[in-house]
Amino acid sequence: MSVHLDRYAERILNGEEGWAKAKALEVIVKVGEALGADGLVKIKHAHISGVSYSNIGDAGLDLIKKFSESGARFSVPATVNPIGFDLEQPEIFNVDEKYFNKQKEILEALRKMGGDLILSCTPYDVGVIQKYDLKIGDHVAWGESNAVVYANSVLGLRTNREGGPLALMAAISGYTYNYGMHIEENRVPEIEYIVEEPRRGFNEALAGVLAEAIAGVHELETPPLVRVNLTKRLYIKEFFAALGAAGNIAMTYIPGLTPEPLPDNWKPRERVAVEAFILESRLDSLRPKDPKDIDLIYTGCPHMGAEELLELYVLVKSVGKVRKKFIVSIPKSILFDRRLLSIVDELRSLGVTVVKDTCLVVSPLKLENLKILTNSYKALYYLSRKGAKVYLAPLEELVLAAVLEG
Ligand code: F3S
Repeated sequence: MSVHLDRYAERILNGEEGWAKAKALEVIVKVGEALGADGLVKIKHAHISGVSYSNIGDAGLDLIKKFSESGARFSVPATVNPIGFDLEQPEIFNVDEKYFNKQKEILEALRKMGGDLILSCTPYDVGVIQKYDLKIGDHVAWGESNAVVYANSVLGLRTNREGGPLALMAAISGYTYNYGMHIEENRVPEIEYIVEEPRRGFNEALAGVLAEAIAGVHELETPPLVRVNLTKRLYIKEFFAALGAAGNIAMTYIPGLTPEPLPDNWKPRERVAVEAFILESRLDSLRPKDPKDIDLIYTGCPHMGAEELLELYVLVKSVGKVRKKFIVSIPKSILFDRRLLSIVDELRSLGVTVVKDTCLVVSPLKLENLKILTNSYKALYYLSRKGAKVYLAPLEELVLAAVLEG
């Protein structure tokens, strides 16, 4: 099937809007053809991932620079995911001069094209929705899986899980292919998962293992409908981030949270019961056997929002100074708020290392053989692949472990 082009897309492909837009749209059209898309959709916003030098190396840097130096400019507002280090504290990440300069080149090229350097994986948490007036039904091209699931499931935006280069091409051309989550009928769930409430309710670590369980069995491209009682924003964020990490899921339908109505007389074609004890025993298997042994505690994957930061502060304050290395990643926008900035300062004075612009997963920090405790299933998933031994537990347990002598 060939991809239908509107008049403007034809102009772009004919080179009438310049080399960069034509190249970018060519890529989008080719991918659309390979997927069997019937046409293109105009996007209102892009979120570009794959910008850490650790992840993309020289090949990625060259691609971004090639577009930037050819005069490419983003056709739509485009925000940017975390990079390899905190711009104000690069020393924490042991980056050498070469790494530092290469990462800065990536940033400069993105800035030149018009990128909004939020350097956060939570565009939904840092004012982007309001700033760019994104509304239910808007088509966007986002390239960060936790944000993609959040966008489709909570904000009612339409986006597939774009790889970093595809989000970049979409930002330059202003189009993506009409496929997957951009098509209304693909957003209607077919399978309903009914989740039993754990004895003491959910926490974010249990929400992560719930996502792992669903991602392990859900094979359809349509979103799972999940009846679950996730009472805090943190639990929802960790659930979506884990869904994005453990599977290919781009959206989940949560009654009461997802803004789109189900079709009249909707009925699932299958119902699946998820028992709480299975989740609890999976979490128990991921908890540290001896929390004293932990080398590093990590939270803020996805980047920690204001509500979670306050919760962390109350917990740390209740135990006093932390004794273990304890890293938290936040978006830099937190520091623009005086009240939150003072909380960050207090956390630092209590021994917590607070970093912005980056995270442990996309930084070049060497973590092999370290024993890491986190409350994020997504962090567990990726840090394990960097050679660390990673354990999972809710935030309260992270803070309790942080005061134990090793
Ligand atoms: Fe964000 Fe890094 Fe986690 S980019 S979602 S904090 S892996």
